Amino acid sequence: MYKNLDQTKAFDKLLSLEKVDLTKDLNNKRIKDYNVKSSEELIYNYAAMPVNENILDTMQELVDEIGIIDRYKELLKGEMANPGEKRKVLHQLSRGNVLNEKILDDDKTDLDLFFKNELNKVFDFATKVRNGQIFGSTKKKIKNVVQIGIGGSDLGPRALYLALENYNPEIKAYFVSNVDPCDANLVFKNINCEETLFILVSKSGTTLETLTNKELIFNLVKEQNIKNLNVEKHMIAVTSKTSPLANDSSLLASFFINDYIGGRYSSTSSVGMVLLSLCYGPNIAKDILKGAHDNDVASLEKNIRKNASLLDAAIGVYLRNVLDYPTTAILPYSQALSRFPAHLQQVDMESNGKAVNFYNEAINYSSGPVIFGECGTNGQHSFYQLLHQGTDTIPLQFIGFTNAQCTKDIVVNKSTSQEKLNANLIAQIVGFATGKDSDNPNKVFLGDRCSSLLYSKKLTPYTLGSLLAHYENKIMFQGFMWNLNSFDQEGVQLGKKITNQILSNDNDQITQALIDLLS
Ligand code: F6P
Repeated sequence: MYKNLDQTKAFDKLLSLEKVDLTKDLNNKRIKDYNVKSSEELIYNYAAMPVNENILDTMQELVDEIGIIDRYKELLKGEMANPGEKRKVLHQLSRGNVLNEKILDDDKTDLDLFFKNELNKVFDFATKVRNGQIFGSTKKKIKNVVQIGIGGSDLGPRALYLALENYNPEIKAYFVSNVDPCDANLVFKNINCEETLFILVSKSGTTLETLTNKELIFNLVKEQNIKNLNVEKHMIAVTSKTSPLANDSSLLASFFINDYIGGRYSSTSSVGMVLLSLCYGPNIAKDILKGAHDNDVASLEKNIRKNASLLDAAIGVYLRNVLDYPTTAILPYSQALSRFPAHLQQVDMESNGKAVNFYNEAINYSSGPVIFGECGTNGQHSFYQLLHQGTDTIPLQFIGFTNAQCTKDIVVNKSTSQEKLNANLIAQIVGFATGKDSDNPNKVFLGDRCSSLLYSKKLTPYTLGSLLAHYENKIMFQGFMWNLNSFDQEGVQLGKKITNQILSNDNDQITQALIDLLS
């Protein structure tokens, strides 16, 4: 039986340890020492987190007592890690075989081979579209793709696509996710359908928003009445083999994932790789996968001081369950990561926003935090006031890069824009931790507001893959510490059910009163 957090001796001990005060304890030795590699090019610095050697030792005891790495290995070996849906959890396998072991499905399918074959199909298709061997139904070269999907079929792929736009996509991507008709209509204004491929992405093949948007797009294309244009041959599907969308031979092509890839963990499967390979080419896609795989391998390390995802997870649990902080902000100092916080919102909150444990029993402690975020420096001019002087402490996760992705910069007042960006980042870490005294209470900064920094020389495809996997694995480890099932999402079902009742006019009085408001 896996233990609940509050059944461990180490957690009790952690509660009793003396706390760190960053206004006094942050120093340059910590800044130099408190670094751990998340992969070859990504480093996690936790100098400005409220931990010390004593606390770290006890966190190590906690992860050992829970047997975190053993649980990770069980998951990698294909043991059932998602009891709510009775499924294996194999997103790590979509980017490499971490333990180099054969993983067989109940019908003896080799699942490693399944993912490799799908990926090869994706790369082959993308190469042919990019070099013009596969073209539109009116013989025009494909210049745009539109990903039609929502949640995990949108957020991760979109965040990764945007993160690499400085790498000049040969094919430009657009996204239609919301069932708000304006989403599809606005995208439609920007594309020439003859030069566009629509990627219909839905693991389940049943999502209301995505199926509705498919019909809306079909309609918009047909309305244009373009001679010889066959809209079905401009659409490809990414779905699971068991979904109603699978094997639609009217479409140009289909690519598959399986039930063992959760939507929010699907960016490194065909869900993200079709789009990214088409836009950036298979080599960039492979670099993303390599970066993610390297973090998956590094995450096997038992020593928390040498395992960045595990340490980040353990510190997060300390912040949530010892210091009682309910929120975490993700603050990338890179415009390329503009949608990364939105993606992490889903990965974290849909995974660990749970109040029952792995065995479906109520837990007596807090689980996943509220996640929000925005790029710096934009966020500074928006909500940092509350972060600095509000009544709550909100732990901060900064992400920063030495160099910009783009080459053109300018020196204004003796510094480049990139230098200004990073000066702001550093200023924030210092300001939050050390604070500032004043005779005027309105100008007092209490300090002791903690932050970590994930950093690298540059946001490359490899670094991006590592960053993605760092968070995926951090969230998985936290789920183990809280003894949750991080891989189902029952909490989204109720709203879907009531929506369907409303759409079929089966309403109670409360629902009807609300409908009347918007009618
Ligand atoms: O509504 C939640 C959810 O099931 C997410 O977990 C998932 O990422 C999203 O919907 C989209 O699902 P699908 O890919 O099956 O359309």
